[in-house]
Amino acid sequence: MKLVNIVGARPNFMKIAPIIDALNAHNGASRNPIEHILVHTGQHYDEKMSKLFFEDLGIPKPDIDLGVGSGTHAMQTAEIMVKFEKVCLDARPTHILVVGDVNSTIACALVASKLGIKVIHVEAGLRSFDRTMPEEINRVLTDAISDYLFITEKSASENLLKEGVPAEKVYFVGNVMIDTLIKHREKSLGSSILGKLGLAAVQSKKPSPYCVLTLHRPSNVDDPETLRTILETVHEFSAKMPVVFPVHPRTRKMIEKYGLGGLLDQGLKALGTRCILAIEPQGYLDFLALISSAGIVMTDSGGIQEETTVLGVPCVTLRNNTERPVTVTDGTNVIAGMKKDDILRSADSAAGKKDRRAKTPPLWDGKAAERIVSVLASL
Ligand code: UD1
Repeated sequence: MKLVNIVGARPNFMKIAPIIDALNAHNGASRNPIEHILVHTGQHYDEKMSKLFFEDLGIPKPDIDLGVGSGTHAMQTAEIMVKFEKVCLDARPTHILVVGDVNSTIACALVASKLGIKVIHVEAGLRSFDRTMPEEINRVLTDAISDYLFITEKSASENLLKEGVPAEKVYFVGNVMIDTLIKHREKSLGSSILGKLGLAAVQSKKPSPYCVLTLHRPSNVDDPETLRTILETVHEFSAKMPVVFPVHPRTRKMIEKYGLGGLLDQGLKALGTRCILAIEPQGYLDFLALISSAGIVMTDSGGIQEETTVLGVPCVTLRNNTERPVTVTDGTNVIAGMKKDDILRSADSAAGKKDRRAKTPPLWDGKAAERIVSVLASL
């Protein structure tokens, strides 16, 4: 097997890290090593959206960087395809491995499948059933052309079987993102981010309750009325506890464009005063430290719904659906939607209640990447 692993955007990095570790562990112990290289498409290129994660997670420097950058969906996808096709023609891999649901995932999967290279999809089968989400299109299409589909939760296998994917292509292995969380949880306790932001005295392990907000979905941030409603609602909630908001570059642009910057603060205010503390996007360890000690997390991210479930931190999802239903049935996630009253009601009832009833979903045990590599080694 000659394998090309692919990353492109921020949520890919924490998924690929344990797979590379498990491949290297396998190669150190086996007489049948799996040759592998790492390609970065360059979809995310900022230091804070990419480089920091390589450092925090110890991911080796990519062997090839396509340097694609931002653009419209068609431009970005097409440029990745043209450049990745050359890589495949030069490197002649037998298999490629893609993770998640970003444009880099579908672009590389499409190139490989047309060249007769086997496609391995990690985090297959998740469905929001909302085709207005670019990620949903990427998921459905990637799964349709993948040869090996590794899934994180049972719902994914039901979705894939309904779409006609043969059961023998589907492997329930657990969640590589949680492998990374489990590995780095202790190290993240050493982060000084809470002290730096004034959320806790540097030495204190007991910050007062605060909320972490993340927003980046086009459906939330590209529409001025939706973005205004969400920010005004969170601003109102922030009278109860300060809100820390690491702002995604796309969201920052939109906040400036729609003149909503007045709802954000640059420093913490006294308790009881409304405060949304806007900060730069954080690296993996600092962000994990932030959400681990939070009283509540409000987000439109998919991965954060999973991370809060394992951490037992209440999560209010600012969307009308989730492709990760196990975070609701087993975890701490509540789907609140984007309406003011619904968000406030969900946030009020969830805030501060570390959910002891939440269960860790099956196989989210830190060993998903090992399972994936043992399947790959047996091919
Ligand atoms: C992408 C993924 C989304 C994922 C998210 C995590 C797709 C379709 N979407 O969305 O699934 O949850 O990443 O962040 O693949 N930008 C920068 N610096 C960067 C990257 C982006 O400034 O390093 C800005 C650019 O102006 C760009 C905008 O953010 O136009 C959006 O970036 P893009 O990669 O197109 O999509 P995301 O919204 O980040």
